[in-house]
Amino acid sequence: MAKNQEIACFSPGLAGIPVTESAISSVDGSIGHLEYRGIDIEQLAEQSSFEETSFLLIYGYLPSVNDLADFNCGLRKHRRIKFRVRDIMKCFPESAHPMDSLQATVAVMGMFYPLPHALNGELSEENIRMVCHNLVAKLPTLVAAHARMRKGDDPIPPRDDLSHAANFLYMLTGNEPTLLMERIMDVAMIVHAEHTLNASTFSTIVTASTLADPYTCISAAIGSLSGPLHGGANEDVLHMLDDIGHVDRAESYLHEKLANKAKIAGLGHRVYKIKDPRATLLQQLYVELTKEMGEDPTYEIASRIEALSQSTLGAKGICPNVDFYSGIVYRKLGIPTDLFTPIFAVARVSGWLAHWREQLGVSRIFRPMQIYTGKKGESYQSIDKRYTD
Ligand code: COA
Repeated sequence: MAKNQEIACFSPGLAGIPVTESAISSVDGSIGHLEYRGIDIEQLAEQSSFEETSFLLIYGYLPSVNDLADFNCGLRKHRRIKFRVRDIMKCFPESAHPMDSLQATVAVMGMFYPLPHALNGELSEENIRMVCHNLVAKLPTLVAAHARMRKGDDPIPPRDDLSHAANFLYMLTGNEPTLLMERIMDVAMIVHAEHTLNASTFSTIVTASTLADPYTCISAAIGSLSGPLHGGANEDVLHMLDDIGHVDRAESYLHEKLANKAKIAGLGHRVYKIKDPRATLLQQLYVELTKEMGEDPTYEIASRIEALSQSTLGAKGICPNVDFYSGIVYRKLGIPTDLFTPIFAVARVSGWLAHWREQLGVSRIFRPMQIYTGKKGESYQSIDKRYTD
């Protein structure tokens, strides 16, 4: 390829460059519309459950009553984690970030659930089913277990009589959630379950394209999600709101940040140029939750930041994204800030697995090219002849 053609193809961050075909989800950033398998996210948030949405994403169709019962049963059966996995987690430092613990533990899981044919890509439907059950079911247990063990408490074993969302809240807090709390968590997980080819999903499919085992693929995805430009932004939003401290300080804070060309956490998105529909849904969830649990001062600060920022950043298409209101919802549910991104992973694992499964049918390893900007034809110099001054 000629040099000028190479440069014409170069798009930092791969912006606007298609790298795969996918039938899992689609997003229209200009109108703020997101669909999973052709169904819009608002309908799923209103009428589906996280378990059903996960099935839809992974298998590509809405389950029958029997399909859903089987899927639920598989999930409940696989919620427990092996005591040796728990022992490994006990060795992590108490100060470890829960995302690091989760990434390491999911990588470890691959050794406990080896797949005989993973390396030549020949996985039976039964193998795939087992992997999906295992990962979707166990991620909440891993997150909850680490959250308790780092405080010196024993993990709370999962309960088979609770839904995915209710069981997760139960394992985290030791209390059975109210129906409203369960529903809020369920919807929050639905809206986080999938979002086309973001950085963590791209990590999943790049890793999957090498035919690495699925635990390695999901561990790679968790690593990508942890960064502050991706899933980690939900924590940063809460830190920002706490730093601001009072709604009256919102304007000066924003002014100072923008004057220093700093980015405001939870605003902006590569695809959405208007408000992210998931931010709107999460904001509604917060409002619902206040009926049972009262107001939270951070919400007032967040909505002031949104209003103020939109007069300047709105014109540039920098609007609230999914992370802007999610943390406020989680905090209201009594969840510590450093668990927000792991919760994102607990939900997004269904989307990652759907992409992993889809990628199994594509037998081409990812191997993009680079534009080399370094030296060429240099001669080697022995160490005694270098830096003679
Ligand atoms: N606050 C202030 N300005 C922002 C901004 C933000 N959160 N996000 C983007 N911008 C500005 C950039 O400074 C840049 O301005 P310029 O053209 O004057 O230089 C312009 O908008 C384009 O930003 P860019 O970083 O190139 O966009 P991107 O598509 O590469 O990045 C994000 C998208 C999400 C990484 C970016 O918006 C961001 O860092 N947001 C904050 C982190 C976040 O919430 N991440 C979660 C995403 S779901």
